[in-house]
Amino acid sequence: MNILVTGGAGFIGSHLVRLLVNKYPNYRIVTFDSLTYAGNLANLNDLKNAPNHVFVKGDIVSRDDVRNALKHYEITDIIHLAAESHVDRSIEGPMPFVTTNVLGTVNLMEEAKNYWKELSGHTFYHVSTDEVFGSLGKEGFFTEETAYDPRSPYSASKAASDHFVSAYFHTYGLQIKRSNCSNNYGSHHHPEKLIPLMINNILNRKPLPVYGEGVNVRDWLWVEDHAQAIDRIFHEGKVGCNYNIGGWNEWRNIDLVQELCSIMDELLDRKPGESAQLITYVKDRAGHDHRYAIDATKLHNELGWKPSLTFEEGLRKTVKWYLDNQAWVTEVTSGSYRDYYKKMYGEN
Ligand code: NAD
Ligand code: TYD
Repeated sequence: MNILVTGGAGFIGSHLVRLLVNKYPNYRIVTFDSLTYAGNLANLNDLKNAPNHVFVKGDIVSRDDVRNALKHYEITDIIHLAAESHVDRSIEGPMPFVTTNVLGTVNLMEEAKNYWKELSGHTFYHVSTDEVFGSLGKEGFFTEETAYDPRSPYSASKAASDHFVSAYFHTYGLQIKRSNCSNNYGSHHHPEKLIPLMINNILNRKPLPVYGEGVNVRDWLWVEDHAQAIDRIFHEGKVGCNYNIGGWNEWRNIDLVQELCSIMDELLDRKPGESAQLITYVKDRAGHDHRYAIDATKLHNELGWKPSLTFEEGLRKTVKWYLDNQAWVTEVTSGSYRDYYKKMYGEN
């Protein structure tokens, strides 16, 4: 197999590429990534000498970039993760989300359909999010049957791409698989997102900005467990099906930040309660989804997948990784999103 992994230099993509490269020495894994502010080759440093891994700098929105890569590497399958992924940035400016997440996904499928001609035997795997289902109240879970109800420009763009993926399956017979996952955490997570942002601010004794009252709930999953689930679905999942992936691990934001503070007080030799004094309630996110919670029973029952780590173990590992990899944090935060945005899209 020659598998094209789009977005492989990003957070989840780099964990997936590492898993595939190490687990399947007979596959060729082609990381295809345009290296936006969110993508970084440092995420794949340990694979520099892997004989079955290639990096290609390319944009999923560009017909030529995609076409050339498919042809040159004789791509047999695609796992698609490339996306603009940060909700707050989608509120600031939705256009890059429409361009990459919607147009880019359709361009990729169109080029794959044309290149493969005979579609059977080739998998197009689309990695999506639980945010397409909208916002839950106190009770209930998102299942594979939950109706779509996206509320942020990010989730609307992912929902649109999911619908196009279904359309390509039903209309053209593209052999698709799709999964919708809850919030991931772990190493190599861009410091704009809640957990790494809080870790860095605690370390540097900066304010910890909790949106609103901190009562919004997210269901957190260890990123390597997500990569394992994708591997399982890619190889064993039914064509045309979608699977929900989640951690059965719901946390209110404020409780999670408190937990990080107490882990870091201990690891940094601070007095208990010292870091929590940095917690600062700030203006809420516009349209802030209240609660996400995934029911991953289908994936568990059909393919035997379940999360491998407890949250306590995963959070400690994550904190330690950030403390040991401050050079990585400096590197990935050195480019400004504003500059990247201006270069790509002009002034807002
Ligand atoms: P990320 O922002 O860390 O990485 C995205 C990667 O895509 C980056 O390497 C970036 O350079 C690349 N990219 C962006 N635009 C591109 C383009 N036009 N052409 C080629 N490459 C491009 O994101 P992530 O958190 O790793 O998320 C990966 C995927 O998983 C996304 O599709 C996201 O919607 C989905 N997802 C994420 C989460 C989460 O908690 N992070 C949860 C569920 C699903
Ligand atoms: P985030 O990591 O941006 O993921 P998502 O919005 O995709 O769920 O945010 C997770 C939660 O944390 C979300 O409810 C918003 C909240 N949040 C804060 O309270 N403060 C912050 O600085 C950030 C980035 C997020």
